[in-house]
Amino acid sequence: MGKKVTVVGAGFYGSTTAQRLAEYDIFDTVVLTDIIDGKPAGLALDMNQSRPIEGFETKVVGVTTGPNGEGYEAIEGSDVVVVTAGLPRKPGMSRMDLLEVNAKIVRQVAENIAKYAPNAVVIVVSNPVDEMTALAQLATQFPKNRVFGQAGVLDTARFTNSIAETLAVPVKSVKALTLGSHGDTMVPVPSRCTVDGKPLSDLLPAEKIEELVVRTRNGGAEVVALLKTGSAYYAPSAAAARMAKAVVEDSGEVLPVCAWVDGEYGISGVYLGVEAQIGAEGIKKVVEDKLTDTEIAGLKEAAEAVRAKQADVASL
Ligand code: APR
Repeated sequence: MGKKVTVVGAGFYGSTTAQRLAEYDIFDTVVLTDIIDGKPAGLALDMNQSRPIEGFETKVVGVTTGPNGEGYEAIEGSDVVVVTAGLPRKPGMSRMDLLEVNAKIVRQVAENIAKYAPNAVVIVVSNPVDEMTALAQLATQFPKNRVFGQAGVLDTARFTNSIAETLAVPVKSVKALTLGSHGDTMVPVPSRCTVDGKPLSDLLPAEKIEELVVRTRNGGAEVVALLKTGSAYYAPSAAAARMAKAVVEDSGEVLPVCAWVDGEYGISGVYLGVEAQIGAEGIKKVVEDKLTDTEIAGLKEAAEAVRAKQADVASL
């Protein structure tokens, strides 16, 4: 059977994700939805008109959904649903400032996913992502392995890009990793960073590595401050599309994602950025690897920071 993916939210993040997914040419259909009249249909038409030039056959279908779930029939049979609906931050805002407003949106979207695409794997990107992922699981009541969030692939890419620029090497020479929350308690993992197989600590002094760690943690805010309206979407959409691809191809790739943690690193009962093997059922398993004591402490701190907020979303 042909594969089908839905992207909910046709803003900057959602539309670029839909475009990337369509250009992979591995789906029959990419459905793009939004609450704005005509916008998803217009974007879908525009993307379909790029097919002869870019050379892909995937069809993009744009649908406007209503307050009572009108239009959601279009997502039926989706293998994956990527949730990008919600407000982006403005300069000076933290992702957490979006909690209440985006919780209402994500809850409503998740309830419709549960109703119309009950077998889908759900990838959440709306911010604050650690909390919105927990909320989407709660509102869909899907098994926890079938709901996960995008953060680590993006944060790792930002870390990788900074390392490559600093050392003037190709990005493909760099292996990096970022775990923890998608916020102040993000845990870039220098001990797992290498350049052409050499440990990063052999190539850069500790203060420079710390500078790159801090820049990674503020990566989203740096873009927001420059844009002045809206937040990043090129690298974020690349990350989300890549994750959806790993699901439909049942690739078994290990990627850093916001996944339900149940005992790994001595942490339980929370959605947190960890490495996980991705496949058709979503998270196949969380992969625990060797980290330094400081990195493990950072991960535990992140878990406690998001745990309380994730409990709060139940009432939002
Ligand atoms: N259902 C579907 N779409 C919705 C809903 C809803 N209930 N509510 C809002 N939207 C749509 C908006 O109409 C808008 O088109 O979500 C879209 C959001 O688009 P942008 O404002 O361009 O924001 P974007 O940059 O795409 O970011 C989306 O991703 O990175 C996060 O923090 C970011 O939470 C934000 C999300």
